[in-house]
Amino acid sequence: MDDLSIKSLGTIPETLLIPLAARMTAPDRHPDLQFRDAEAMRIGTALGFDPARFARDTGSMRGSVLRAQWFDRITETFIASHPAGLCVSIGSGLDDRPSRIRLPATVDWVDADFADVVRLREALVARRANVRTIRVTETEPLAWMDELGWTPGRPTLVLAEGVSMYLLPSVGENLLRGLVDRAARNGALLELAADFASPIMVRQSRRNPSLAKTRASFRWAVPRPETVGDIAPGLAVIEAVDITRRCGALARTMASLHRLLTGRPVYFCGHYRFRPR
Ligand SMILES: C[S@@+](CC[C@H](N)C(=O)[O-])C[C@H]1O[C@@H](n2cnc3c(N)ncnc32)[C@H](O)[C@@H]1O
Repeated sequence: MDDLSIKSLGTIPETLLIPLAARMTAPDRHPDLQFRDAEAMRIGTALGFDPARFARDTGSMRGSVLRAQWFDRITETFIASHPAGLCVSIGSGLDDRPSRIRLPATVDWVDADFADVVRLREALVARRANVRTIRVTETEPLAWMDELGWTPGRPTLVLAEGVSMYLLPSVGENLLRGLVDRAARNGALLELAADFASPIMVRQSRRNPSLAKTRASFRWAVPRPETVGDIAPGLAVIEAVDITRRCGALARTMASLHRLLTGRPVYFCGHYRFRPR
């Protein structure tokens, strides 16, 4: 029988527990953010997962909730403009955004993650007719791009929440270029929402109290929002937000100090758009 426990998760997939803990504990720990996710609580409970493992790391928990709210907003705005679009969530972990944002039936949704995560998703996340899942492999980490079923001219939103920093730099850069290449070939508007860690955050990742409770560490740094467009020409910044400024006094001070010394954010959520010719 399949092992449906959190012990079955590999090194990087285990990190999905950090934002899951944040979503489960948000109403108690951060009531001011008014974030509720009934599915996170149901999924976490079914897994026998105790969010207390990470809940003392207030900065990461609050940051994960603020990040989820930012990604929810970007997704809702995209869907309002493109009600027959395609949404793709890379590294979706055990997040059930479709339930949170009440995904309309006209939008197709794809979740992509490693096989051990997909096994848990298939057992625990409620199924929907317009949502499907793709298994990502370590050997061909970008093969999912050709499994999406691009439709010429169909607007596509790609979400990567809490994922970029776990990618090998070569995989991250090829992901950005590959998306632009496929959108251009299909004459499709492409939007990308992703969060990125600075070089110092990557170097110091094992000092992150939540990450230190897993076996994972960060690998790919993106210093500035504009770097994404340097890597994949055509991807223009629509919005870039440094949510660490809203994660408590210590995080705010560190973020301000980093910006003062380097002129760059220590961490940011970036929203990008590529328009085909
Ligand atoms: C920190 S978790 C974030 C999960 C989810 N986005 C959330 O916010 O709850 C990182 C996720 O990215 C996935 N991941 C890492 N590298 C990946 C890759 N190359 N392709 C697909 N998923 C990946 C992990 O398996 C894990 O589920």
